[in-house]
Amino acid sequence: MLLDIVLHPDERLRVHCTPVTEMNDKLDQLLSHMFDTMYDAEGVGLASTQVGENRRFCVVDVSEDRSKPLVLINPEIVDHKNTITWKEGCLSIPEVSAEIVRPKNILVRALDRDFKPIEFEADDLLSVCIQHEIDHLDGKLFIDHLSPLKRRRLMEKYAKQQKAKTP
Ligand code: NI
Repeated sequence: MLLDIVLHPDERLRVHCTPVTEMNDKLDQLLSHMFDTMYDAEGVGLASTQVGENRRFCVVDVSEDRSKPLVLINPEIVDHKNTITWKEGCLSIPEVSAEIVRPKNILVRALDRDFKPIEFEADDLLSVCIQHEIDHLDGKLFIDHLSPLKRRRLMEKYAKQQKAKTP
């Protein structure tokens, strides 16, 4: 089932999410819907706030053939090194992108779909994507990493495009 993706500047994207305390069928079902929605929109990640939820979970798949689905519940970055510049976009701010600097290599701790603790290293696109999704769980968007001037220019472009799409 496809979910509606919340679009910037909706305030629901600014919610600071609370930890998930238990896994249940309802959340499992929601995660399936989030994967459907992310794949349909050709995204590499989708966070709870983007579908109107306010607990800490997201889905990710950066593989080219969409074969490596990853569920992260209560994810945290426990270590990081080096930096990388990546051109980021977001399903909640469609059709605009900007170069963002972030740590290149991270160590991630989270719970998986079975609510089991996992820990793994992520590099490059996967690292960028997980950081982007964790930002969402803190009510933060990639545009918040830009200078005020760059952000304003990008948001003017975004507003124009959104307006053009409105019938
Ligand atoms: Ni995003």
